[in-house]
Amino acid sequence: MAQQTQFQVPTADQSHNFNVVAGSTTNVGTTLENLKAAVAGETGANAKYETFSKAAADRGFDQASRLFAAAAAAERIHIALETKLVQAQEPDFKGPEPTPVSSEATDLDLIGAALGEIHETSDMYPSFIRRAQEEGDAAAVQVFTRAKLAEAFHAERYLDAYNQIDNPSDETYYVCPVCGYIHKGSDIGRCPVCGAMPQAFKAF
Ligand SMILES: [Fe+2]
Ligand SMILES: [Fe+2]
Repeated sequence: MAQQTQFQVPTADQSHNFNVVAGSTTNVGTTLENLKAAVAGETGANAKYETFSKAAADRGFDQASRLFAAAAAAERIHIALETKLVQAQEPDFKGPEPTPVSSEATDLDLIGAALGEIHETSDMYPSFIRRAQEEGDAAAVQVFTRAKLAEAFHAERYLDAYNQIDNPSDETYYVCPVCGYIHKGSDIGRCPVCGAMPQAFKAF
């Protein structure tokens, strides 16, 4: 119980998992450019996960289908947070239309999604956070930080579903509406990424 009251939201300044991976492939621009790149990346992820969710349902992979739907919803939260910051400077900004994708096989969709999430959490977002810190843009640091931390949990959930593809779980996934964190199972507490209370989490 004491742990609950002492909960602290992780930050880029105090956490120890914000290093940029060696051999980074992220093209870092200004924070405004990075926000737009993040919107584009998240828009692609959202569209991919929607497609993969439907394909998994058609193939009878209910757990994978629900996880893809939950992650698609989580990426929409990131798109909204990042779009809002771009629009504070460019009110007419609209994000790109996603490129359509197709699903080859659900195991490949899951492992590919995990790889994408790992790229975002270990390369793209920590690179963007570093730049936003240099610019003194606290709002961008916070938005990128929430997304970065949520993506690591997405990767974990995708690998878990990959391992369970032939022995699936019917446990519910819950999405934090503030930051896009995904929890699996009914033992939900405060969001470990942003501290939101679990009552508002959305079930999948
Ligand atoms: Fe994600
Ligand atoms: Fe959260």
